[in-house]
Amino acid sequence: MYKNIKFDVDGDGIATLAIDLDGQSMNVWNAALIEEFEAAVDKVLGDDKIIGAVVTSAKDSGFLAGADLRMLGDSGASPSVADAYKAAFNLNRILRKMETGGKAAKALVKGETTKPFAAAVNGLALGGGFELALACHYRVVSDSPKVKFGFPEVQVGLLPGAGGTQRTPRLAGIQNALQLCTSGRPIDAGKTKAQNLIDEIVPHGEVVAKAKEWVKANPKTKAPWDNKGFKFPGGQGAMDPRVVPVFAGAAALAQKMTNHNYPAVQKILSCVYEGSIVPFDTAISLESKYFTTLLMSAQTQNMIRTLFINKQAAEKGMARPKSVPKLDLNKIGVLGAGMMGAGIAYVAAKSGMDVVLLDRDEASAEKGKDYSRKLNDKGISRGKLTKEKSEAMLAKIKTTADYNDLKDVDLIIEAVFEDPGVKKDVIEKTEAVIGKDVVFASNTSTIPITSLAKNSARPENFIGIHFFSPVDKMPLVEIIPGQQSGDLPLAAALDFVGKIKKTPIVVSDTRGFYANSVVMPYLNEAMLMVKEGINPALIDNCAVHMGMPIGPLALSDETSQELGLRIMKSAQEELGDKYQPTGTEDLLEKFVNELGRKGRKSGGGFYDYPEGGKKHLWPELSKHFPPLENQPSPEEVKERLLYCQLVAVARCYAADVVHDPASADLGAIFGWGFAPWTGGPMSHIDTIGVDKFVETADRLAKKYGERFAPPDLFREKAKAGEKFYKAA
Ligand code: NAI
Repeated sequence: MYKNIKFDVDGDGIATLAIDLDGQSMNVWNAALIEEFEAAVDKVLGDDKIIGAVVTSAKDSGFLAGADLRMLGDSGASPSVADAYKAAFNLNRILRKMETGGKAAKALVKGETTKPFAAAVNGLALGGGFELALACHYRVVSDSPKVKFGFPEVQVGLLPGAGGTQRTPRLAGIQNALQLCTSGRPIDAGKTKAQNLIDEIVPHGEVVAKAKEWVKANPKTKAPWDNKGFKFPGGQGAMDPRVVPVFAGAAALAQKMTNHNYPAVQKILSCVYEGSIVPFDTAISLESKYFTTLLMSAQTQNMIRTLFINKQAAEKGMARPKSVPKLDLNKIGVLGAGMMGAGIAYVAAKSGMDVVLLDRDEASAEKGKDYSRKLNDKGISRGKLTKEKSEAMLAKIKTTADYNDLKDVDLIIEAVFEDPGVKKDVIEKTEAVIGKDVVFASNTSTIPITSLAKNSARPENFIGIHFFSPVDKMPLVEIIPGQQSGDLPLAAALDFVGKIKKTPIVVSDTRGFYANSVVMPYLNEAMLMVKEGINPALIDNCAVHMGMPIGPLALSDETSQELGLRIMKSAQEELGDKYQPTGTEDLLEKFVNELGRKGRKSGGGFYDYPEGGKKHLWPELSKHFPPLENQPSPEEVKERLLYCQLVAVARCYAADVVHDPASADLGAIFGWGFAPWTGGPMSHIDTIGVDKFVETADRLAKKYGERFAPPDLFREKAKAGEKFYKAA
């Protein structure tokens, strides 16, 4: 009768609804499950032989991980507000029916009861899964360490929309509820119990049996808030002196943390506050209204599309050639144990692969392995890793200076000095020992893959895999096929990136590839502003207010002025007469060669980094770059910082450096931290309107220079009234 629920009734008349979403490894709410779940609830409520029910999951992967965002994401259709609200309220309505037995709240308050539903939670319960458990009258939870509860909705611009913003504060109090709903961070079973959000933690295999015991002992029940005189633990409403400061503090903190960029956070506060001064049924209806407002906004649609749908598709190998069967990458060779090689060895060993880490001598290779030791020790001291696990992981990294140790690896990643001669040498030595079908990938950041592949006896097996620093933290990886790369290296690169759980995008073999082609103009723009006399604090603060993780001047310090100068010099050498000055050449020369401010690691750049203290702008900056008397408005600075990135992305897309809007957006957010609330630069251009984007870019080009001029493709799109995502 059901495709997604295993429904049975035992001898005591207790039904079990074991959710087992058809064809999926993890349970999520989709339209089919919602419909079946209502039918199952109706069956329990309508059948006199059934005394109550246990709601559980038939999957080992967990309880239920939330709503299927593909159901909510860009469907192409634009429903009316009324229809959207009706759809958004549907799950709220069904869960409330389960909770009240379909009775009016008034009848329950007067003393009526309903049949008990107990949740038996065997694993992960996130978003709509957590809400399902909260709507049951009792929650029994497994003691497995895999159990986690949380509301991740906020991370894609949504709020918990199936009663989460209402049942959580009624059980755990307003402060805990705000924390859970606005942070998106999950908590473990112990903490969930301490907050009164679950009732019992029992041995893993006993959740259903214990839940049944409770149902049997409590055949007549109702939710606490359906009792007369129900009060929130810790206070509620606009006048209670216990919670007034909580709301005031939460509102201030939320704006500080989000810089007004994430409306979902503010709407969660509204749900919890307003929901605490109205009856429960009104409260869930207003929650669905706020949910609908968010869901229908372009910003949330952009976030869902990029941060969830397209991210997952990329990580599942959307760009992978189907002709190549999945590769067994169990052992990889990493050439060069410097900053990048050490990081690559760490992420590979951490994900279970054996690593041969090769450098010019054993000592240098060991030094690279020390990086993994250091990170593991940190993990151990924070209680995130056991000594045994650390040792097992470290045993996977074999350090060497002998190329013969590479003979049975499944993939090579090269990260030696950025010097064509050195790279040629290691390519030849490596290919002399590895198998014929083993893919050779280079992590070069500036040398074209096609020209490096000329040193290879098998250019069809050669490819670029470009990591970002620090490798263990940065989620993006660019994959760069050279002119002769075949399907095998692309498949191998994507399989490898999948194994280390990073987000891949495939880009063209051009100078700087994609991410650095945008980051450079962005950093340059900030440096030009410094030269103009714009207050450096204004520059970096505007970027952070716009949603960037750090300001561009602080980012320059991180990547180092020294590297900036080196890249500029090599571009000058390579391009000769064709080199187009950026206007920052003199500033970089001055920082590196005159002021000795080469970057954060060499003592400082735009900022000073006092040991043990907080970084602050270098006090002498204003001596070398006197500030303008009349500073521009923050809006002007923000517009410049935003558009220098948007235009650079647009040019990459127009020149096919990045092949599709989805990759451009993923690369921006996960590569250099482009404001996630936009869903990425291409999404943002669509949202602003391509015509508006072209108009603003032209205005900025007139004022500041050709570097802001939008590419022709965007003018054509603007004229045709087209968007990028519809077309894509
Ligand atoms: P690094 O200087 O920290 O490390 C290079 C390592 O290669 C050193 O340990 C060196 O001893 C070793 N090496 C040099 N010649 C060798 C040879 N003939 N045989 C074996 N090992 C040799 O450099 P880093 O920063 O790790 O960069 C490595 C590569 O990664 C470069 O191609 C660079 O362009 C690229 N890259 C660097 C990024 C960064 O942020 N530093 C980001 C992305 C790519």
